[in-house]
Amino acid sequence: MNHLHIPTLETERLVLRPFAIADGRRVQQLAGDRRVAEMTSQIPHPYPDRMAEIWIASHPMLWRNRKLAPFAVILRDSGELIGAISLRLFAQGPRAEIGYWIGVPYWNHGYATEAGREVLRFGFEDLELESIQGRHLLNNPASGRVMEKLGMRCEGVLHHGAARQGRLLDVTDYSIPAGNFRPYLRVA
Ligand SMILES: CC(C)(COP(=O)(O)OP(=O)(O)OC[C@H]1O[C@@H](n2cnc3c(N)ncnc32)[C@H](O)[C@@H]1OP(=O)(O)O)[C@@H](O)C(=O)NCCC(=O)NCCS
Repeated sequence: MNHLHIPTLETERLVLRPFAIADGRRVQQLAGDRRVAEMTSQIPHPYPDRMAEIWIASHPMLWRNRKLAPFAVILRDSGELIGAISLRLFAQGPRAEIGYWIGVPYWNHGYATEAGREVLRFGFEDLELESIQGRHLLNNPASGRVMEKLGMRCEGVLHHGAARQGRLLDVTDYSIPAGNFRPYLRVA
């Protein structure tokens, strides 16, 4: 599949669409919450003004160069932006890394899992990826649970596998090959 523009995906409760510059304030507000930022290696805290807009403006080029498939996570009913999810595509081979965050007021409603399942489907079926990996900080069990619910397999812990604001941190690695993906798998 060769999309010129980032597509829009849909699930039961969510729309996954390209970010618009106008989403910048909302991204700053939700991703700038310490409880979200500190679980990522990329999101600074405090979150500087204009950084979200600059990040969003980079998306079309990153998509066209087949480096990133970024989606805003939108609640279908209210139209609220509640998070972000992406596939970072590797240059060598049909492989990607999934990444996501959900705003604190929306945690534990199954939204990351629902968005993740659709993004894995998109990666395997539409982008024809053969393997998708995930990685979370060791002290972030909620993200590990999301990856488990997506059917990803834990591959082990990498000592000092990530850095956040100059500090090295341990990470847990997950992966799933295309053949193991079940779009409708529900893990109790
Ligand atoms: C990780 C994150 C995306 C999860 O989003 P979410 O929409 O709440 O995820 P879901 O509701 O689909 O699933 C969360 C699961 O984690 C579980 N969970 C939540 N807090 C937990 C904790 N402290 N320990 C263990 N499990 C936990 C929930 O119970 C749920 O599992 P369940 O369905 O078996 O009950 C969200 O917490 C977040 O954005 N965190 C900050 C940023 C981040 O960590 N991004 C990922 C970086 S790898």
